[in-house]
Amino acid sequence: MGRGLLECKVKTAVITGASTGIGAATARRFLKAGYRVINLSRRPLAEERVENLPGDLRLTYRDKSFSKRLCELTQDASALVLIHNACLHYGDTVGDLSDEQLDEVLTLNVRVPNRLNHLLIPCMQPSSSILYVGSTLSEKAVPGAFSYVVSKHALVGMMRATTQDLVGTGIHSACICPGFTDTEMLRRHMGDDPKIRQSITERSAENRLIEPAEIAELLFFAAHSPSLNGAVIQAGLGQKET
Ligand SMILES: NC(=O)c1ccc[n+]([C@@H]2O[C@H](COP(=O)([O-])OP(=O)(O)OC[C@H]3O[C@@H](n4cnc5c(N)ncnc54)[C@H](OP(=O)(O)O)[C@@H]3O)[C@@H](O)[C@H]2O)c1
Repeated sequence: MGRGLLECKVKTAVITGASTGIGAATARRFLKAGYRVINLSRRPLAEERVENLPGDLRLTYRDKSFSKRLCELTQDASALVLIHNACLHYGDTVGDLSDEQLDEVLTLNVRVPNRLNHLLIPCMQPSSSILYVGSTLSEKAVPGAFSYVVSKHALVGMMRATTQDLVGTGIHSACICPGFTDTEMLRRHMGDDPKIRQSITERSAENRLIEPAEIAELLFFAAHSPSLNGAVIQAGLGQKET
């Protein structure tokens, strides 16, 4: 099949941060269902039928050639699923968060989704969807994660406003909010201390971390469930509150 034909009339998923973790598992789930997947992250995901548009989204999101290429790849998709997944997570507090760090976090976690929405909504046919990856911290807060909590709450607002603004278009939106999921991000956060890992694992009702594939399954389900339009879906594996 010629490349031109491949770019036409194929269900397509655009996923930010699909090089690893939840994004990579999600890419594999959509590939399994026959989708073409476009990954936007610095590292590639080495899978057939994945088009990697590499780059640091904090920089490329304003880049004209990047935008042009993304639009070319998606303009003829029969249905488009846009998944806002890449994020930055720093440990900071209300008292020490600098303007610069807040800007950096909001750029990747909020401005990039906004820009990608602008670019891709015009290419979206009915049955398309815009999915936001939030967090349990989209609806509550813990100490020491100020900018992350702010940005994850913002995503819920973006999703709700997306839903309202796109009434009648056949495009639906939802926010999937994972709990502790076994990924690079969580491992960085936990460090090498087995006691910290154990204390986090024990927070789940099943005494385990969530597998990235479990969140990928929810994202896949949400993409095919217009009745979830406007939903905030908590996927915290029965997280115990302390
Ligand atoms: N893991 C958890 O416990 C957990 C809990 C709640 C919510 N979440 C949410 O789940 C989502 C995925 O997180 P994860 O746990 O799967 O993390 P992860 O394994 O660290 O993956 C993060 C992804 O984001 C990409 N990324 C980071 N900075 C980027 C940048 N500047 N430009 C482009 N891509 C960038 C990374 O790709 P490159 O490094 O290749 O650029 C990577 O593919 C996030 O929205 C996170 O908030 C995770």
